[in-house]
Amino acid sequence: MRYLDARRPLMRPARLPMSWCPCGALIVLLFSTAAPASARAQAARPAPRTPAVSAQAMHFVDSLLAIMSLDEKLGQLTQVPGQGTPTGPKALPGGEAEIRAGHIGSFLGVYGAETTRQLQRVAVESSPHHIPLLFSHDVIHGFRTIFPVPLAEAASWDPDLVMRGARVAADEATAAGVHWTFAPMVDIARDPRWGRIVEGSGEDPYLGSLLAAARVHGFQGTDLAANNTLLATVKHFVAYGAAEGGRDYNVADLSPQTLHDVYLPPFQAAVDAGAWSVMASFNEVAGTPMHANRTLIDGLLRAQWGWDGVLVSDYTGVLELIAHGVAADSAAAARLAITSGVDVDMVSQFYRRALPEEMRNGRVSLATVDSAVRRVLLAKYSLGLFDDPFRYADPARERATLLSVANRRAAREMARESIVLLKNAPLASRPLLPLAKDARSIAVIGALAVDGKSANGNWWGDGRAEEAVTILDGIRGAVSKATRVTFAKGTEATGTDSSGFAAARRVARGADVVILVVGEREDQSAEAESRASIELSGMQEQLVRTVHAIGKPTIVVLMNGRPLAIPWIAEHVPAVVESWFLGSEMGNALADVLFGDVNPSGKLPVTMPRATGQVPLYYAHKRTGRPPRAEEKYTSKYNDVAWTPLFPFGYGLSYTTFQYSPLVLSTSTIGARDSISVSVQLRNTGNRAGVEVVQLYLQDEVGSLTRPVKELRGFQRVALGAGESRRVSFTLVPSDLAFHDADLALVAEPGAFRVYVGGSSEDVQEGRFQLQLTSGCTALEFPRDRARFTWSDGPPSGAARGLPGTCRGATR
Ligand code: NOJ
Repeated sequence: MRYLDARRPLMRPARLPMSWCPCGALIVLLFSTAAPASARAQAARPAPRTPAVSAQAMHFVDSLLAIMSLDEKLGQLTQVPGQGTPTGPKALPGGEAEIRAGHIGSFLGVYGAETTRQLQRVAVESSPHHIPLLFSHDVIHGFRTIFPVPLAEAASWDPDLVMRGARVAADEATAAGVHWTFAPMVDIARDPRWGRIVEGSGEDPYLGSLLAAARVHGFQGTDLAANNTLLATVKHFVAYGAAEGGRDYNVADLSPQTLHDVYLPPFQAAVDAGAWSVMASFNEVAGTPMHANRTLIDGLLRAQWGWDGVLVSDYTGVLELIAHGVAADSAAAARLAITSGVDVDMVSQFYRRALPEEMRNGRVSLATVDSAVRRVLLAKYSLGLFDDPFRYADPARERATLLSVANRRAAREMARESIVLLKNAPLASRPLLPLAKDARSIAVIGALAVDGKSANGNWWGDGRAEEAVTILDGIRGAVSKATRVTFAKGTEATGTDSSGFAAARRVARGADVVILVVGEREDQSAEAESRASIELSGMQEQLVRTVHAIGKPTIVVLMNGRPLAIPWIAEHVPAVVESWFLGSEMGNALADVLFGDVNPSGKLPVTMPRATGQVPLYYAHKRTGRPPRAEEKYTSKYNDVAWTPLFPFGYGLSYTTFQYSPLVLSTSTIGARDSISVSVQLRNTGNRAGVEVVQLYLQDEVGSLTRPVKELRGFQRVALGAGESRRVSFTLVPSDLAFHDADLALVAEPGAFRVYVGGSSEDVQEGRFQLQLTSGCTALEFPRDRARFTWSDGPPSGAARGLPGTCRGATR
């Protein structure tokens, strides 16, 4: 099984330092003769180097490299934790003496303008060549002003807003001295048992790619040397989300086609968007741990994609090569990692300790080490640290920007757009939501309603629980003075304590309407927080049933970081709102939606199953030879639960309603260089303004390999006033039809395609067209060194979308 297209010669970007092993040249020789003309033509096109650096930067860094000692070079590759991180122990960095000696290139989890300035001063005044330090931190969804968790942001389907969220995070973090964030996390996740599903953009590679690119643009801006932009790190490379059994850090064993069609696209979108850094993942892929995966790091990422940024290990990832069983000791682990392309050793300190001996023995070349150091120094140069090592840490800016009114406003806007209305059944004559602000009394029930820490999610940066607006506070702040808001905890999110049920029943009985907040604490959806059951934890479902039985109009608000299986609630409770972990402005944003100041527009970026036993469950599944049919026993389904999701990918309601006309296709057949326009008339049929996320999916009816039933290939957020209607059009080009075939070539094959447009992956209008190629042409082949799906707020991106395909002859 191959994970690289063996017919494509491996190609190094022109400027890459030559640490390349002779086996690369051998592969070129072996396969270049076998490559078809089309592939050779593509290979001849030099990939642009990303991220871009100036000749001046190269010159400066090379001159510096020439005078550095080996000890100092390995120091540049060494990252040590500072004051504890959410995932690491509280470890002392080894003191200022280590900085002075040049043994540390970067810190993890150290921030604060004063603190970082102090340490930087030691480095630039007292270390051998005065090389500035990098300060890195997990700024995932906000620094001090916390934005919704990434999965929630993905529910907005709004790359521009997501980009602006990352911009705010960068603005705040840089003021506090941070140069390097370990985000965006772009792992596709189709198994909600996996706790880190919360950190990514969900199950879909198209949506995930657009948001990956948006976040990179947000963090890095257009000028990395500006004092409010930082290095973005795309992580975790790769297939970390494919962990077997949804168990964190577990093995990923997947086909090369799934790797290339599903897991890799967001990485390629992010590196094409200019991401400076990539983090290796803890998992193995088909037997090779990613920290030792030379094929995918050096071969695919660097050689084929032309990316030459800084590849950082994950926390003790180098050390863990021993536990994986591919390295017998620290020397082998360090050697494997650095020769596979891992530049920076986070926490293990194996490079510094073991590489000198490996180099003396000739097992690791100086050129290999120099390549890694060069990348780190280029990052420091590009940030402008050699001009002014203190440019980012700015106490005055820190005071002005952290948690500023403008930043809170941005977080509230993002949070409002992240909320998904799952159910809103009519009670009496009208839907239960939105609520009137002057209701006589509202009961709020559930421990999560007063949990500011959970509102911030599990990667809270420098966020503070007490600075997050809780759900209860948000509701209290929104209602009229005359409204009585009562509260009872009922039960915690976990545990067996139901002693609060009586109080919950009491407040529910005394209220006109009940808002029940259930779901997860932030530490239930996070790293190392996989769950064997995605049903509601603890006594929460019993609480919902108990309160619901009282018969008051009841709304369930879900607060969680993963899709939860809530079949009973979905069936019995009239209104259900998915509000995730929304950050600093959680309560305000939720109240905006509950009381109708904002019409919800979020759509699920991930499928919600009915039961844990259904997972993995995702919309872009394959058909199988026996697609499920209720009336037929011997088809692919369960005998105890329906095979369908509880709520499908792309689903979300609004306080208004939208009607889709049948599809209009501009043609029924396209050729290799044509495009097709697919349009629909969308009407707001309700009585208030709203935003609909119009989604376009494709199905390749017959392929040389089996194809998913549907794949997202476009979406638009469309705002319509009450009664207003608009034609919404999408343009498809042949590259949108492509997939990785048995040889891992990216091809569009002739034949019939179904196209679907609608308000979710299931509720769609349908059309059909043909891709017709000239005779003798069996498929169109597309370049693989550019991202297919991307998003750009202005800076150029290397998207392959729309690039013409090359005809592949029948003789292959
Ligand atoms: C481990 C996590 O996997 C990674 O995402 C994070 O960036 C590092 N720890 C550093 O905190």
